[in-house]
Order: sequence, then C-alpha cells, then structure tokens
Amino acid sequence: MDYYEIEGGIPLRGEYRVKGAKNSALPIMAATVCRAGVHELYDCPRIEDVFIMEKILQALGARTYWQDHCLVVDSRNVCESVVPAELMTEMRSSVFLLGSLLARCGEATIYRPGGCNIGKRPIDMHISGLQQLGIEVEVSGEYGEKVSCCGVCRGGTVTLPYPSVGATENLIMAALSGDGDTIIENCASEPEIADLQGFLRLCGFQVYGCGTDTVFIKGSGSTISRMPSAETMYFIMEDRIEAATYIMAAAGTGGRLVLRGIRPELLKEVLRAVERMGAAVHASGDIIEVISPRRLRSPGIVVTEPFPGFPTDCQPQLLTVSTVARGLTTIREEIFESRFTHKKELIKMGANIETCGKNAIIKGVPFLHGEKVEALDLRGGAALVLAGLMAEGRTTVTGVRHIDRGYEDLDKGIRTLGGLIERRTCD
Ligand code: UD1
Repeated sequence: MDYYEIEGGIPLRGEYRVKGAKNSALPIMAATVCRAGVHELYDCPRIEDVFIMEKILQALGARTYWQDHCLVVDSRNVCESVVPAELMTEMRSSVFLLGSLLARCGEATIYRPGGCNIGKRPIDMHISGLQQLGIEVEVSGEYGEKVSCCGVCRGGTVTLPYPSVGATENLIMAALSGDGDTIIENCASEPEIADLQGFLRLCGFQVYGCGTDTVFIKGSGSTISRMPSAETMYFIMEDRIEAATYIMAAAGTGGRLVLRGIRPELLKEVLRAVERMGAAVHASGDIIEVISPRRLRSPGIVVTEPFPGFPTDCQPQLLTVSTVARGLTTIREEIFESRFTHKKELIKMGANIETCGKNAIIKGVPFLHGEKVEALDLRGGAALVLAGLMAEGRTTVTGVRHIDRGYEDLDKGIRTLGGLIERRTCD
C-alpha cells in the first residue's frame, strides 16, 4: 500500500545512468531454462516482474541468487514443466516459459498470464505458431485458462499475422529443440529480441536474423535436456523505456538531463518527438543530453507502432507531457486497445483530454495542479508521477505496486535529479 508524495514544479537537472531492460531481462531469464547451466545475468533490473520470474524459475527447480545487479540462475536441476498458476497470473511474461520449457523438456503447462490492464492481450499467435511447428496444444479449464503443450518442433516456416514481440520470442525458444530448422517471418524486430538472440547464441544455439523481420533457428536435433551444462555471463541491454521516461520527465519539467548508458538509435522516434516539442537533444556514443525550454509546444500527431516506430510503452508519458504543451496534440495508440488508463486522473489534475477509440486529443493547458491520483498500470503509473513532477502543488500517487513492476527505485532516480518525491507507506 505504498504511495508517492510529490511536490511539483522543480525542473529535473543532472545525470542518470540507465538500468538494464525489463523487456530483455524477462525473456532471457526464461531462456536460462533452455540450456542447463549456471547463467550470470549482469545489469539485471531489480524490479517486481523480475522477482516474480525468479520465483517461477525456482518453482521449476532452478536455483537463483543475486550479487548486486547480477542475477545468477542455475538451471541445471530444472525438472518441473508446469508453471504454478498463482505465479503465472501475476505477470504476462510468464508466457515465455512455454517456449523455453518445450525446448528443454518437450512439454510445458502454463496458465493464461496476467499483466497490465491495457488491453485483451490474447496469446493466440503464440499457440497457432507452436501448432504450425508441430507442437500439440491443449487449451482447457473453465475459461480456457490452462494451456498444455508437448512435442518437439519439426521446423518449417511460420508467418506471424502481426509482429508480436512475445510470440516471436516464444517461438524462437520453442524452435531450438527438434529436428527441423525454423524460419519465422513477419516477426517483431524490437532490440530486446536481438538481445535474446545474443544470450541464446552464447548458450550455443544457432539463431540468426533477430532485429530484422525474419528469424532463422537451427533445430538442435532433439530436446535440449541431453546437452551438457553450460556456464554463461551475459550483460542485459539498457532499458530504452526507462530512459524515455526520464527524458520525458526532464522535458515536462523544463529541465536538463544527461543520460548515460543508452544508445540513441534505440530512441529515435522518442527523441524526434521531444525535439519537435522544442527541447534540444545532443546524442553521441551512449550518451543523450536533453535541454528543455520552460514551456514545450505540441509534438503534433504521434502514432505508436512496432519498433522502430514510436513505442507504445512511452505513449502514456508523452501524453502526460503534452497536457501542458502549447497547442493541440493527437496521439493514436495502434498497439493496445485500452492504453489511456491515466486520462481520468490527468483530467482531475486540470488536463484537457478527449479520447475517441484509438485517438486522444490533448489541448495544452498552462499548468496542472496537484491531486490524489491512482496508478492503474505500469507505464500509466509512471506517467502520473511525471504529471506530479510537472504540476503546481502536491500530488499523491497510489498504486505504486504497478510502477514497481518495471522501474527500480523510480523515486530515488528522480531525487538524484533534484525532484521532490518521497515514497511513503499507508498506516
Ligand atoms: C511486449 C512488451 C511490452 C510492449 C509490447 C509492444 C515484453 C515483456 N513486453 O509485450 O512492454 O508494450 O511488447 O511493444 O517484452 N497480440 C495478439 N495475440 C497474440 C500476441 C499479441 O493479438 O498472441 C496483440 C496484443 O494484444 C497487442 C499486440 O498484439 O495488441 C502487440 O502485442 P505483443 O507485441 O505480443 O506484446 P507483448 O509481447 O505482450
């Protein structure tokens, strides 16, 4: 029942080093099951979703421990192929265990994953992709919540109807076992998928093409349980969404931020948007500097798209910053159907936002005022923290547990930049 208390109106200034990526750490943690061994994952973010994935790995027989930001997963004794229902429903990324357990054991049972309240998020593409590769899939339970799979991939070509990030990652892992080679077409090209490929290659698997729209996976000949155990050391890539959140926080407060450890090419569309809003951006190597004017102007029309387009995970933050930008902003959310969850709370703070289907029209107001607001999902929650930093007066953000799923110590990071934010616990 923790909440954030924020005194707004202070421009954020200073330097911040970006942490490891949630969306890379989670599939890679699942992938540690694919190859029995001791896997050291460096720069692993210490966030709630990672802790839940850690519990799932333990329930499957793995041993895990932390050394600062290095998570060590010893997957040599993984012997269980059923993911406990109570852990599955806490986090959507648990679906990756379907692919990795299939590769290792030739069978896997999961329960339909939980996750953010931002849309229906079915797993039909995961299931039909596996079936096309020769895996038997049985969906059971009163609500079709139990998914059991068995078999080894026979290989072949799967063309995804939509470049789903999770389905791409799941199919890559499932395809590691079995006799045939697999090609996945129209797959997602997010950089986190290339990071998964990097880890799998280190484990000795042959996966090529990640980061493009076609991936090739060489089958290993059978289930992987017969392979000798491996020892790996892998650095998780940087979190481009965390980086974007800090960039928006600095832009929205008229601040000046130097971000370290982030490749600018991962954030092209986000940087373009803040430049259109009037901020100066200097990027070189793995450093991005953003200098924001006191008041931003509208970025115009922004549409969320799969990578390399504007990321849906940065849309709630951009929407928040647009509430006080001069002029009219249109944001079209093309990936998830319910991703304006924080709109009602922003309106309480004085924002002028109309939504119609996929579109949000934001008319910039001179300022927001502090309010008691509730985070209902991860990125929408972070966006409310940004609103609090931008607003006049005091804002209380409840529902911090949603934010904890994907940000490590967001309040501490903001404090190092001069923001006035405290984490408190309800009595
Ligand atoms: C991943 C990211 C998430 C990000 C999203 C889109 C992780 C852990 N999470 O989520 O932060 O917001 O990519 O960039 O990496 N869909 C179906 N059927 C399926 C699978 C997906 O209809 O079987 C739909 C989804 O409902 C959604 C769209 O496809 O509308 C994109 O989903 P997907 O790319 O799969 O996102 P995730 O992998 O869940």
